[in-house]
Amino acid sequence: MSFTTSNHKNSKRVQVISLKESDLDKLIFPFKKHTITSLEYKPFSRFSLAKSLDEVFENKLSNKLVEILNDRETGTVIIEPEINNKKFDKDFLVKLSTGLAYLIGNPNFDLMTGKYYARFHVKHQDSSDSYLRKAYTNLDLHTDGTYVKEKTDWLIMTKMEEQGVENGESVILHLDDWEHLDELSNNPVGQQDFIWGSPKSKNIEYKVQHPVFRKDKDGKSTISYIDQFPEPKNMEQGLFLQRLSDCLEESKNKIEFPLHVGSTILSNNYFWLHGRKPFKENTNLSRELLRIRGNFFN
Ligand SMILES: [Fe+2]
Repeated sequence: MSFTTSNHKNSKRVQVISLKESDLDKLIFPFKKHTITSLEYKPFSRFSLAKSLDEVFENKLSNKLVEILNDRETGTVIIEPEINNKKFDKDFLVKLSTGLAYLIGNPNFDLMTGKYYARFHVKHQDSSDSYLRKAYTNLDLHTDGTYVKEKTDWLIMTKMEEQGVENGESVILHLDDWEHLDELSNNPVGQQDFIWGSPKSKNIEYKVQHPVFRKDKDGKSTISYIDQFPEPKNMEQGLFLQRLSDCLEESKNKIEFPLHVGSTILSNNYFWLHGRKPFKENTNLSRELLRIRGNFFN
């Protein structure tokens, strides 16, 4: 096997796949075949890129990713490529993330950027309309795709670059580790339809309706939740969301860790929540992230 899989030091629910420089070297040539523009304009080129990625890893990477993401016991994998050399630049990271995405499924069109992926910065100053880019406030635990019609089975978050960064650690929580899962998933309000909207920057004209908690085919709870976008229509729904938010943030079972530049988190979006701790104030602060969300093939 040309990649290694291990348990994350903070939790065995999180798998870590390390990619060696000597293997990444083998990607340089097939990745050169595609420019960022051709990947953006020609969907089939992303499949061909992903196939090259899988081939370098003996066609075992795709199966491993799909296996981990669908395993309720784990469901999150961190890809750690050894990218100390400058030849592994930001274009390389976009291509690697694209390849990872197309080994597991089809990305949703990201209306924030009008592409199959989004790149964005978190900086000292921010005038945006959501918590995504607010450096000095907690980005509370949430799932993605709460306000879109497309299924959001999984998400990819890659750290492209950062400078002037202290703190701002990644925070994730497995639903089955959450102390309040039984109480809140069994509360009838949690199974009611809520209305979900989104602020202007997301470029979504419609609203959707769905409950916070559902059961999957095995009867296990799943969650679709973010604090900013549900529009409670009465006191009962408002108080339920406040309790849910408080119970998530006070959980003792959150997993917190710094994500290295170049590394990618891939999570099942039904039973993992993600967030970020506030950064230490710094006028030079800059972090660039890439995200892709999508659905599984099949
Ligand atoms: Fe998110």
